Order: sequence, then C-alpha cells, then structure tokens
Amino acid sequence: MMNIIFLGPPGAGKGTQSQIVSQRLSIPQISTGDMLRAAVSQKTPTGLKAKAYMDAGELVPDEIIIDLVRERVDEDDCRNGFILDGFPRTVAQARALGQLRPIHAVINLDVPDEVLVKRLSGRRVCPVCGAPYHVDRLKGATTCQVDGTPLVQRADDRAETVLSRLKVYHEKTAPLVAYYEEQGLLRSIGGGLSLEEISEEILKTLEAMA
Ligand code: AP5
Repeated sequence: MMNIIFLGPPGAGKGTQSQIVSQRLSIPQISTGDMLRAAVSQKTPTGLKAKAYMDAGELVPDEIIIDLVRERVDEDDCRNGFILDGFPRTVAQARALGQLRPIHAVINLDVPDEVLVKRLSGRRVCPVCGAPYHVDRLKGATTCQVDGTPLVQRADDRAETVLSRLKVYHEKTAPLVAYYEEQGLLRSIGGGLSLEEISEEILKTLEAMA
C-alpha cells in the first residue's frame, strides 16, 4: 500500500509520469486539475467557482480543493494506495492531507522554468481521457492515441497564463519541497532525462521506499 504525491511546477511532467506509474502499480492517479476541468465543463457548483481562478492561472481556494480530495480518497479504488497529481499545492493543503491519510513518498520533478514554458506552449491534451502530448512528438498527428479524440490546447497553456502559473508555483507550492524534505519523504528527479528514463527512475525510487 503506497500513497504517493507527485510534486513539481506546471509542465514538469506530473500528469505524464503519474499516468505511467499508476498503470505500473495498479493504483489510481488523482489529478486535481483534471477533476476541476471536468467540474468546469459540467458546470457543477465547484466548477463554476473554480473557473475564474483556473483561467487566470491562480490556485483555486484551499477549502474547495481539500473537500474534493477528501471525497476522492475515500473511494474504494484508493484502498491500496493512490497517486496525487497536482495536490497538495499549498502548505495548508499539505497539512489537511496529513490529517486525511499517511503519505509514503513524494516525487519532486525538478525542471527549469525555460524548459517548462516550451513544454506547456507545445502541449496538446485529449479532452476525454486527459492524456497529454507534445507537438514535437506528435509528428503531425492530431488525435489521441488512446481513444482517437481530436486533441486540444488547454486554455491555461497560453503564454501569459503560463507565466502567472509559474509565479504562483514559486510563491505557494515550492515551499512544499522543504516541507516534505523535513519529513524525509521527498525524492527529487531532474528534468534533464527523457520521459522513459524519468519513469524508470521514479519506479526504482518508489521500490526503494516501499
Ligand atoms: P493542473 O492541471 O494540475 O496543472 P499544472 O500543475 O499546472 O500541471 P500541468 O498539468 O500543466 O503539468 P504537468 O506537470 O502535469 O505536466 P504534463 O505531464 O502535462 O492544474 C490546473 C489548474 O487547476 C491550476 O492552475 C489551478 O488553478 C487548479 N488546481 C489544480 N490543483 C489545485 C490545487 N491542489 N489547489 C488549487 N488549485 C488547483 O507535461 C507537460 C508537457 O511536457 C506535455 O506536453 C508532455 O508531453 C511534455 N513532457 C512531459 N515530460 C517530458 C519530458 N521528460 N521530456 C519532454 N517533454 C515532456
């Protein structure tokens, strides 16, 4: 049983890597970004509250997101563990999570800002299953390799919003690196590696921590 957090700035590869690790370990990936985007497109009360924050690249208020995660980790498929992708993002969220469930490992994807800007501006995603792609590797393809849906660009991947997301990350989320380091749970993996090399490095790290 392993409860894992994927930490890192926007575009660090949390979504990409947590999907791979989720399949390999057979535990669910919980992406708060995907949950919020689904709520926005279904126009639920949470989605209606979250939309303006997300469009501006700001964080959604802690109480909204903590409630969402509390309900999700209570679901049956989380019994053998889970991977949190994009949560926690503030010290208040990390404290709330600590009251909900024990955390066994925090994987910090460490990638410089200039690489992140390039990745996010070239990202395309499947609006149905959430699978992320990059235009450089799509070789002209325009549909999802999983379910054939036409790929789209996320509204918050526009250049000006990307810069505010990075600023918010440095101000509000980066302090979590020290927070989890002090608890002996943090393992950082550098961004200079290929996607496949990073997956292997993460799986080896998790095996050593299990
Ligand atoms: P969210 O959806 O979580 O976005 P994010 O953290 O900004 O992260 P991204 O999804 O942009 O990046 P990622 O690290 O998953 O990278 P990816 O794998 O896609 O959140 C969106 C919004 O929701 C927030 O701004 C906020 O408003 C709100 N929100 C969500 N959670 C919240 C919370 N807890 N509290 C408050 N508000 C919250 O990869 C990016 C690109 O790079 C892809 O194209 C990929 O193919 C490519 N790539 C990945 N790895 C590599 C590699 N090694 N080499 C080359 N390319 C790579």
